[in-house]
Amino acid sequence: MVHLFSPFTIKDITLRNRIGVAPMCQYSAEDGTPNDWHMVHLGSRAVGGAGLIIAEASAVVPEGRISPEDLGMYKDEHVQAFKRINQFIKEQGSVPGIQLAHAGRKASTYAPWKQPDLGVNVPDEDGGWNIVGPSALGFSEAFRTPKELTVGEIKEIQEAFRQATIRSLDAGFEWMEFHAAHGYLAHSFYSPLSNTRTDEYGGSFENRIRFVIETVRIMRKEWPENLPFTIRISSTDWQEGGWTIEDSIELSKRLKNEGVDLVDCSSGGNTPNPSIDVGPGYQVEFAERIRREAGVATAAVGLITEGMQADDHVRNGRADIILLAREMLRDPYWPLRAAQATHQTDHLTIPPQYERGW
Ligand SMILES: Cc1cc2nc3c(=O)[nH]c(=O)nc-3n(C[C@H](O)[C@H](O)[C@H](O)COP(=O)(O)O)c2cc1C
Repeated sequence: MVHLFSPFTIKDITLRNRIGVAPMCQYSAEDGTPNDWHMVHLGSRAVGGAGLIIAEASAVVPEGRISPEDLGMYKDEHVQAFKRINQFIKEQGSVPGIQLAHAGRKASTYAPWKQPDLGVNVPDEDGGWNIVGPSALGFSEAFRTPKELTVGEIKEIQEAFRQATIRSLDAGFEWMEFHAAHGYLAHSFYSPLSNTRTDEYGGSFENRIRFVIETVRIMRKEWPENLPFTIRISSTDWQEGGWTIEDSIELSKRLKNEGVDLVDCSSGGNTPNPSIDVGPGYQVEFAERIRREAGVATAAVGLITEGMQADDHVRNGRADIILLAREMLRDPYWPLRAAQATHQTDHLTIPPQYERGW
């Protein structure tokens, strides 16, 4: 039976187990360039035994950063810096993944610990910038109002995704994740709550998903066929009149036809106060339904903290892989502990330097 420590193969890439580190912004870069912090953050979780390490949301243009300290993939200089980290991750037996992103109407915000009392948005005088979105609808009162993108500007952003995809390959990444969740640009196009356009990018379901489908098509062409191409979506807006799980299932079917190998099933993020029924594994049902009803591999994420819990989801076919975020911050060695908890210690390679500790 397939379990948490069974290898997982997509195309030419095999993860040593079904455990991945979810992308997590570190707000620690200068002009998008990864540094020693990112090496230690990502590298230590590779040492800790995860099969997959997905680097945080990395912007395809500077204006697409969530905060001024986000990682980027918009300059050739970024490639060299990522290369060193990815080399280390691979040496530890993990697969390095990247999450390419554009923050859209949620860009230009402060890193959580730098936020002054005045609000979330970074003003121009503090290094902020004007933001863009499908429509001129601000995320909330605290945010700037985005400029509605012209079709020409949409194409420019898609070109930036293309170039960032090529750079990601040069940097040695082996797993691509297109960030289309959490209210950032791609999600804000497909959700009716943030897209009131009347051209071919707004209105009907078909039009609202156009940005995502086109961008995937452009990126997939540059990303080698033999490497996993994945996408993170918000499976529901948790909001009346918003995007639904049924929409996500339909979108996932289309994405599969575009060569998407796995859908990472998150939720929310497009409205300030959604009504979310938060609890253990609260998003797993989305991964399960999309996997079953769209026939595509999925990742489950969100409040999965125990080895037995993660193992149960994999064994019962609710998801192909399990991603963890906050629990990995608390314990980079979570996979080792999960192997003990699930009686699978034979499946783990503990670095020889650490063997005496286990
Ligand atoms: C510090 C931090 C940074 C995050 N940054 C990102 C990000 O860059 N991209 C993304 O898609 N999700 C991001 N998330 C969301 C996580 O990937 C994950 O989906 C969420 O935290 C739920 O999983 P958990 O309950 O295991 O923490 C972040 C979460 C945290 C805690």
